[in-house]
Amino acid sequence: MDYNMAMSDGVDSWETMMLLYNSALKEVGTKLEILNDEFQHIHQYNPIEHIKSRIKSPESIVKKLKKRGLDSTIENMREFINDIAGIRVICSFTSDIYRIAEMIRNQNDIKVISVKDYIISPKESGYKSFHMIVSVPIYLSDCVVDTKVEIQIRTVAMDFWASLEHKMNYKLHPDETDQEIIDIRRRLYDCARMVSALDDEMLALNEKMQDLIEMQSKEKANK
Ligand code: GTP
Ligand code: MG
Repeated sequence: MDYNMAMSDGVDSWETMMLLYNSALKEVGTKLEILNDEFQHIHQYNPIEHIKSRIKSPESIVKKLKKRGLDSTIENMREFINDIAGIRVICSFTSDIYRIAEMIRNQNDIKVISVKDYIISPKESGYKSFHMIVSVPIYLSDCVVDTKVEIQIRTVAMDFWASLEHKMNYKLHPDETDQEIIDIRRRLYDCARMVSALDDEMLALNEKMQDLIEMQSKEKANK
């Protein structure tokens, strides 16, 4: 089979590219659902709360390339834009994030291109999340094309925070010298710390409860 042939410039290359990214989202989405089902089957518990996915709009792709001084060619899009296909995995607990990342790493056909752990090293804004850029092989009728997907894994609380912070940056068009904006940023940063404290405490409580459940069931079995 021809490798990467689908990206040779043709009339339909934009369509082909979108077909690839849509297929990659389906592939990764299905893989995650299977892993979640298997986990439920073995541990009677779902590490994934829910999954959201999206394809980057053509306008945003072009804007991002322009910002980096690159022409809007199919090759540049495929090489330099890592988040054309994006999938967000929302979990209950921080420990689930690493469990899911590990399960993704263990998938033989997924290549991990890069990892950014903004949980261990949060962004200046307070942003926390675990990011992976991976590629999955997409089997077309006459070729196989490795296609990139950005996976963001975060807790429900981190997601709640990120949505509000995103709203400020993308809907408000903040003026960084405005005292009100400085104040909002400071308060958001404080919220990020509260989110971390909440995540830590919920995890600790869950572990404690889990231990007690196991102890009770052992006691019951011994009776
Ligand atoms: P781009 O942001 O895609 O240009 O690439 P990058 O190399 O900066 O990647 P990074 O992992 O920092 O960010 C990728 C994505 O994570 C963004 O598109 C957002 O969806 C999300 N993200 C990163 N930083 C923040 C942040 O401070 N706040 C929020 N709300 N989201 C963020
Ligand atoms: Mg960025």
